[in-house]
This record gives sequence, C-alpha cells and structure tokens, in this order.
Amino acid sequence: MNANRELMGFRGASAALGALAAAVVLQFSAGAVGAAQEGEDIRASAAEGSRTVLITGSNRGIGLAFAEHYAGDANWRVIATCRRPEQAGELKALAAQNEHLEIALLDVTREDHIRSLAERYADQPIDLLINNAAILGPLPEQSLGGLDYGRFEQTMAVNVYGPLRLSEALAENVAAVGGKIVAITSGLASLTLMGRMQGLYFYRMSKSALNMGWRALRADLKPRGVAVLLVSPGQVDTGLLRESGYRGEALTTRESVAGMVEIIAAATLDDPGLPINVDGRVLPW
Ligand SMILES: NC(=O)c1ccc[n+]([C@@H]2O[C@H](COP(=O)([O-])OP(=O)(O)OC[C@H]3O[C@@H](n4cnc5c(N)ncnc54)[C@H](OP(=O)(O)O)[C@@H]3O)[C@@H](O)[C@H]2O)c1
Repeated sequence: MNANRELMGFRGASAALGALAAAVVLQFSAGAVGAAQEGEDIRASAAEGSRTVLITGSNRGIGLAFAEHYAGDANWRVIATCRRPEQAGELKALAAQNEHLEIALLDVTREDHIRSLAERYADQPIDLLINNAAILGPLPEQSLGGLDYGRFEQTMAVNVYGPLRLSEALAENVAAVGGKIVAITSGLASLTLMGRMQGLYFYRMSKSALNMGWRALRADLKPRGVAVLLVSPGQVDTGLLRESGYRGEALTTRESVAGMVEIIAAATLDDPGLPINVDGRVLPW
C-alpha cells in the first residue's frame, strides 16, 4: 500500500513542522480581530476556573497524545473518553498522575453512552471538544470486488455518525463558553489528492462525509459563537497508519499533536473552516 503515501498527500510533514508556527500565523492572520475577541473569551473562561477539553478515543494513538498534552497543562481539565476504560492501561496511568484528568466511558457508536455523557456533564462548560476516534477498517473489505457493506456501515457509524451525534449532544456545553468543536480529518478525504490510489473506499468516503458535515455544523454553530474546525494530523505512527500498510516516514503522535494544538489554539470563529493540515496548509478538497 505504498500508494497510501501518495494519497495521504503531504509528504515530509515532519520537515515542515519547523515552519509550522509561521505557517499557522500566516494561515490565520486574517482572523486577528476574531482572535483578540476569542482571547477575551478564553480569559473570561479561565478566570472562572480551568478550561475543559473532552477527547474521544483517548486510550491510544493520537487521542492519548492529546490527553497527555492537555493533562500536562494545569489550566486544562481533561475528560478523556474511551470505549473500554478498564483496559486503558496508559490512560489510567496518566489519570493516576493527574488529578485534573478524568476518564469517561464513550463508544461513539452508542447512543446510550452519548446520552449518559451529556447527562453527566449537563450544565458544565466544555471549551474544546475533540472528535478524534475513528477506524480505518480492513483493506480487503473496502477493495472493489470485496466491498463489505456491513463494514461500510460500521465505518460510517464510528467516523461520521458518532462525531456528529456527540457534537449535537454537547453543543450547548460548548456554546455556553464560545468554545471549539474539532474533528480530525484526513488527506484521504481529498478529491484533489486522489492520484492513482486505489481502495480504502469506506475510510475515504467517511472522512469526506465528515468534512461536509463539519461545514454544515459550522454554519449552524458560528452564530452561537462556536468555532467548528477540521484538522488533519499528517501521517502519524499509530495503529491506524500501520493497518493501512503505509511504511514510510511518519510523525510521532507527540509531534503531530503539538502541531494540531497550535492550529486549534489559533483558530477563530471567522476562519473559513477549511481542513487544515498539521503543517498549517489548507488541505485541498
Ligand atoms: N495516524 C494517521 O496517520 C492518521 C492520518 C490521518 C487521520 N488520522 C485520524 O486521526 C484520528 C486518530 O487516529 P489514530 O491514528 O490515533 O488511530 P488509532 O491509533 O487506531 O486510534 C483510534 C482510536 O479510536 C478509538 N475508537 C475506535 N472505535 C471507537 C468507537 N466506536 N468509539 C470510541 N472510540 C473508538 C480507538 O479505541 P479502541 O482502542 O477501543 O479501539 C482508539 O482510541 C482518527 O480520526 C484518524 O482517522 C490519522
């Protein structure tokens, strides 16, 4: 699956990370006025106590690195969700060292889990919601001739319905503090970067659908002061990337999260809401 390298688009992202700060500044300079306003909002929120981030799929990979990053900053309260807390060894170890990190049960395909989570945190502000959890799915089942539509449904349930349902359920919590709702997208969603790559129908289609869903969500929530963002992590050394068969250069989870955190922090309500790669570039659609 070396073709994945071509599909995922942005090669050598680690080299580009050095220029990330400058790129992000350029990318978002048009939103400077909004950023000042947002800074005031954040200060207001911080003055009342710590800011809260809720992350899905926090037990491993990029989600765990997000949890580690925010847990390392005393200004953040971290709600680290995962679908099997009892088996989340690394996350439990992190929680044991950080009293401002709590673990919550969430399988994003489970409506009852989302309802319970929304009830548990009802009336509590959420400054940042990171929809990170996703599946790639087995390659043979999403290759022409072997397309498994049950697997397609499962991929859509995790990668599209889950983030949308969760964000709808927690929209009030985020709107209460003029916060941000992020979805982690992928270069594999891009029509432009398609090249000669074959297969991965379900994963690619799910991320394209996620992108469009996030545009619609942005239109609904911008008037309520919620910034709705799409961020792509680059090629990152995780189980998901290894499942894809990709064996080339990749960022560590920590490198990727450091870049995405900068992008998320700099984002404002007035940004156009296009998918931003970890190196600060807009991913072509
Ligand atoms: N790695 C890359 O190169 C890359 C590139 C582009 C985009 N992305 C995106 O980055 C995000 C994180 O991916 P990753 O590379 O960190 O993948 P990963 O290592 O495979 O981790 C995926 C996470 O999602 C969780 N998850 C799966 N199904 C779930 C469900 N039904 N409910 C809740 N959680 C569920 C997993 O939990 P379990 O342990 O319980 O399975 C795990 O915590 C994804 O949105 C992915 O599409 C990754």
